[in-house]
Amino acid sequence: MKHAVCAVYPGSFDPITNGHIYIAGRAAAIFDEVRVSILVNPQKRSMFSVEERQMMAREALSYLPNVTVDHFEGLLIDYLRQLKSRVIIRGLRAMSDFEYEFQMALMNRQLAPEIETFFIVTDPKYSYLSSSSIRDIFQFGGIVQDMVPPGVFRRLRDRFPPRRSCP
Ligand code: PNS
Repeated sequence: MKHAVCAVYPGSFDPITNGHIYIAGRAAAIFDEVRVSILVNPQKRSMFSVEERQMMAREALSYLPNVTVDHFEGLLIDYLRQLKSRVIIRGLRAMSDFEYEFQMALMNRQLAPEIETFFIVTDPKYSYLSSSSIRDIFQFGGIVQDMVPPGVFRRLRDRFPPRRSCP
């Protein structure tokens, strides 16, 4: 009997963007189950806590019944082995992503040859989108409303209320 395929889509998701949601949706159309897994990395300063990131991702992905949201610590391959998953999903936006992603996929294969990394190419309209640019743009008053789900926009606005102009 073939087991249902659970694919893990790992990342920082600080915060989740429309580009991530697009990749999760494409993966959910192919794999039986997709687990969006947020890395807990105490060494990296994040804008949102893991709990907040999880909540935002859950809200944004609730329309996809076979997608769940989780978090993990330590090595990605150990987390996959715990889940008995053999599939890593990563999104690709541009060639500039490729070198980093290729290196990570090869490193993960070296550590766990049974695990495969699948790349999903983004929609061109998201090719410029990244969580770090969302954070920067929003902090300095730029418009990000079309780039993130409504729950993320709301939380960004709570965190950085719009600046008042001089009277
Ligand atoms: O969204 P990101 O920050 O590009 O995601 C990177 C992530 C979380 C996939 C990667 O840093 C990761 O898997 N970290 C866990 C530690 C690990 O397994 N490292 C070995 C792979 S090189």
